[in-house]
Amino acid sequence: MDSVKVGVVGCGTVGSGVVKILLENGRLIKERTGKEIELTLVADRNVERVRKLGVPEELIVDDGFAVVESDVDIVVELVGGTTVAKDIVRKALENGKHVVSANKALFASFGEELFSIAAKNGVSIRFEASVGGGIPVVKALNEGLIANKVEKILGIINGTANFILTEMTERGISFEEALEVAKEMGYAEANPSLDVDGIDAAHKIAILASIAYGGWITIDDVYVKGIREITPLDVDFAHEFGYKIKLLAVAKPDDGKVEVRVHPAMLPEGHILSSVDGVFNACLIEGDFVGPTLYYGMGAGQKPTASAVVADVADIACGRGSSVPVSLLGRGARIPVKRPGEFVSSFYLRFTAVDKPGVLAKISSILGKFNISIKMALQKSIEFNGGVPVVMTTHEAAFETVKEAIAEIDELDVIVKPTFLCMIEE
Ligand code: HSE
Repeated sequence: MDSVKVGVVGCGTVGSGVVKILLENGRLIKERTGKEIELTLVADRNVERVRKLGVPEELIVDDGFAVVESDVDIVVELVGGTTVAKDIVRKALENGKHVVSANKALFASFGEELFSIAAKNGVSIRFEASVGGGIPVVKALNEGLIANKVEKILGIINGTANFILTEMTERGISFEEALEVAKEMGYAEANPSLDVDGIDAAHKIAILASIAYGGWITIDDVYVKGIREITPLDVDFAHEFGYKIKLLAVAKPDDGKVEVRVHPAMLPEGHILSSVDGVFNACLIEGDFVGPTLYYGMGAGQKPTASAVVADVADIACGRGSSVPVSLLGRGARIPVKRPGEFVSSFYLRFTAVDKPGVLAKISSILGKFNISIKMALQKSIEFNGGVPVVMTTHEAAFETVKEAIAEIDELDVIVKPTFLCMIEE
């Protein structure tokens, strides 16, 4: 193909960015690739906002399905969600169009189905922008690290949650206060659940794990816990113990299964991911031959995300469309995943107890009974949720065992609130 016809469906924040890049940098992309990327149609229900971008009138339509039924070679789906977007993507693939999309929820839920349609129709789906915004992390896994077994992926892949935790750490404010700041800055949605409850990061790590381990891992396979329960006290204790709290996405193989999880984690302050602050994203990927590699940048926003979308379009134009995911993931293989109870980690435990003799002895005796070894312990004589905070870190233990022990501890008459626990990623 010397030129490719591209139709954009959905001209919101990212779609507008894609249109702007193609209008502003089209010539540069042609110089670099030798391919003409022809913006052929732009669909949005709100045609006025497309007009404002300077798109010629004859290229504007108000129906995404008109793009799918046209003669474009590539459909760029930027509608989002898993309803209309899914119909558009499916129809585009069935009509023999390549698809580029930033839709993490779509691939983390329906990737297997959509990739098998792509494989049947000999077309590709590319989705760089679905993880890490402008950071080429999908490309790194698919191409640069192709020679490696992936030993571990550790990611900070939700900018909003990372911004909130950074504000809590740097300014000593509560989760609720930091969330308000995130809303004022335009990072968090009015309903911030996808970000703060870990769901957005879970979609993303499901996609990365699927590529890394060569079979579909869906959102339902990911253990997910968000950041709502973190208090300024936990941030302070973490610091005293030498850690920073981050919303971490983890994928790693172990014993024929893959462990895929998203949750707040304590990271040593000297860990390279501990210095990833604010809305920035980073992904640390370890390969068996290459060792650790790091990808850092803006994980959201119009320009970074559009940059990744257009890179995918350029790849397809250059014939690099039939990427690993279609051939590998289109075959419908599933990967066994670990149950959360099987995770093994060190833990931070925050008990809320009455301040009287024998409390520590009662807690530690139950931990001892479950063979959980305490590494550090600290109590502060400050009022906290109707008690005093007693925190401990443990040596490695099975998550299941720790949960059983906590259930028993929380039954003690000296414990006044449910215990909070957080994994420690050493
Ligand atoms: N809401 C996401 C974030 C960006 O805060 O990182 C889109 O995936």
